[in-house]
Amino acid sequence: MSYLLRLEERPFPPDENPRERASFYDCFPFEYPAWGGGNFREPCLRLRTASGGGCCELFYEKHRIFPGKPPLEGLPAAYGGPEECATLEITLRDPALDVRVDLLYTVFEDVDAICRSVRVENGGREALDLSTVLSAALELDNDGFDLITLHGSWAREQTIDRRPLSPGRQGAYSLRGISSHQFHPFLALCEHTATQDQGLAYGMSLVYSGNFLAQAEVDQFDRVRAVLGIHPEGFQWRLEPGASFQAPEAVLVCSEEGLGGMSRSFHDFFREHLIRGQKKHRPTLLNSWEACYFDFDHERLLQLGRSAARYGIELLVVDDGWFGRRNDETTSLGDWRVNEEKLPGGLKRLGEELADLGVGLGIWMEPEMISPDSDLYRAHPDYAMAIPGRAPTLARNQLVLDLTRKEVRDCVYRQIGQVLRSAPIRYLKWDMNRPLVDVYSPSLPPERQGETAHRYVLGLYELQERLVTDFPDLLLENCCSGGGRFDPGMLYYSPQIWTSDNAEAVDRLVIQEGTSLVYPLSAMGAHVAVCPSHINGRVTPFQIRGRAALPGCFGYELDLDKLTEEEQALIPQQLEEYRQYGPLFRTGDCYRLASYRENHTYDAFLCVSKDKSLAAVSFLQVRSRAYRRSLRLRLAGLDESILYRRRDTGEVRSGAGWMRGGLLVEAVQSDYLSVLVTLEKIQR
Ligand code: GLA
Repeated sequence: MSYLLRLEERPFPPDENPRERASFYDCFPFEYPAWGGGNFREPCLRLRTASGGGCCELFYEKHRIFPGKPPLEGLPAAYGGPEECATLEITLRDPALDVRVDLLYTVFEDVDAICRSVRVENGGREALDLSTVLSAALELDNDGFDLITLHGSWAREQTIDRRPLSPGRQGAYSLRGISSHQFHPFLALCEHTATQDQGLAYGMSLVYSGNFLAQAEVDQFDRVRAVLGIHPEGFQWRLEPGASFQAPEAVLVCSEEGLGGMSRSFHDFFREHLIRGQKKHRPTLLNSWEACYFDFDHERLLQLGRSAARYGIELLVVDDGWFGRRNDETTSLGDWRVNEEKLPGGLKRLGEELADLGVGLGIWMEPEMISPDSDLYRAHPDYAMAIPGRAPTLARNQLVLDLTRKEVRDCVYRQIGQVLRSAPIRYLKWDMNRPLVDVYSPSLPPERQGETAHRYVLGLYELQERLVTDFPDLLLENCCSGGGRFDPGMLYYSPQIWTSDNAEAVDRLVIQEGTSLVYPLSAMGAHVAVCPSHINGRVTPFQIRGRAALPGCFGYELDLDKLTEEEQALIPQQLEEYRQYGPLFRTGDCYRLASYRENHTYDAFLCVSKDKSLAAVSFLQVRSRAYRRSLRLRLAGLDESILYRRRDTGEVRSGAGWMRGGLLVEAVQSDYLSVLVTLEKIQR
């Protein structure tokens, strides 16, 4: 786009006017800004030399373009074969330090997205300390942009926040060692007037699961520098001569079809080029957590299994409490041996008896954790992260294993492998229930302690990689007290993530809207949970809870036998809807038609199959509005010239007719109304 670069505008180029070099940098659109030399805005690269100097100036050296895309060592990254994508590698160098920086850009045939990554190599003779290595910068004019970020807390993840950009630095970040419930490794800049279907929008998403910075900075010339990468605070990486550092990958999307266009590009990109398990079957499941928490035994689980079997639910997931002496939150993390008092015959017997009922077995684990009251801790107290001389900080009564150490990873992985091989387990919910606080590892020398948080994430990735390699048929669902680590890094390993511990339908609409701004619906775990909600106390009708969960990977998190007869009668219909619509929601193009977060009344979205032959509209009214007439939902994404039949009423209109004329939703003076409409192409 013509306004991207301002290179023709040369206010005080240093080669012509050396006195004005500093102000030249103030308005120079850097591709990859380094700290020093007069760059006063947020740098992507900052380092310290052995003599204490900090300045780094990068100059173009060479570039090459090649088919395909190289993997990033030790990191999750997008993939694509030589037919599908091409990569541009630009090499920059600081001649004074002999630091080489390779910027990699990959573009794809089928999706409108660019992947960027950065590798820094120390070609000099002395060690360097890197204190900032961000993954991407984007320099733009501030065309009246709004900044969009996702924010929240436990049980309120991924809420969309949109605000006009203002001078200075603003954005999102995490310093908790996980991508976090509070913010999300993503930002978007869009024209103030941009809507779901029109206007310019840029999206940046980081393929990373630890501390991050996603920031937009508006300068004195009303220019924006948007940056994304590992958060510099607390980060330091020692780079010996000849060594290199690989920063995580950023995915950049630009849409002129508003926020919806941005979301669809992200969805396609993640589905086709990042989520390796995307095509795995997503079974319906019954999870034991809200049904019985820690209070279960073999018979109780079998009873849940029997009720699952009655409805054809495919999996029973035994959540927390099946191992060690774990009857509450205070104990046994790290002791991944089945509690035979609760489950005589172990998971094997349970799995086999469930199999006889036609139900698969899934389990919960929290492999990154250790309880002080555990055999593992008694044998290896040093496996828990702690700062020397200080008592480590408990959170949910547990400590974090030092995954930077290979022997710790091996120990936990051995246990995971034993458990998974001991029984017919088809699904693993990998949980992580606290932030990193005592970020220190005795395995690293003092000058490398700043590497600990990132090395933890690398250790986690190594574990997940081993798991998906050794157990290719296992369905892995990540979780972090709900959506505390819902990020593209984790999606590289697990095709779905438990979106939030808050499965209450109304709150979930908001959480799922924010999640689907970036991620495909197929990535969201969504269940019908206990009512009144254990999280917010709200009472919502069973049918609404089902419809709210329908777009995600569907399941139940309650005791089916405790439902009323009317509720139970709805289960077959809910499961049938998931069977019918699940594939469309997981693979189709999504269009948001209305946002309950914005209008406080109703929510609506539409999914259209890639070949445009099938579409489903989901409308959910939370609150009725007095004296309202019928609502017109203008549809989108259909083929204008195709005739579509509305399946429930038989009404036929062209795609253009449905999009311009809209779908009329009758005014019903009642809270909690849900309408699911299918439009199918008429074969002529
Ligand atoms: C976390 C998860 C829940 C459940 C519990 C078990 O909070 O998010 O879904 O698995 O742990 O302890």
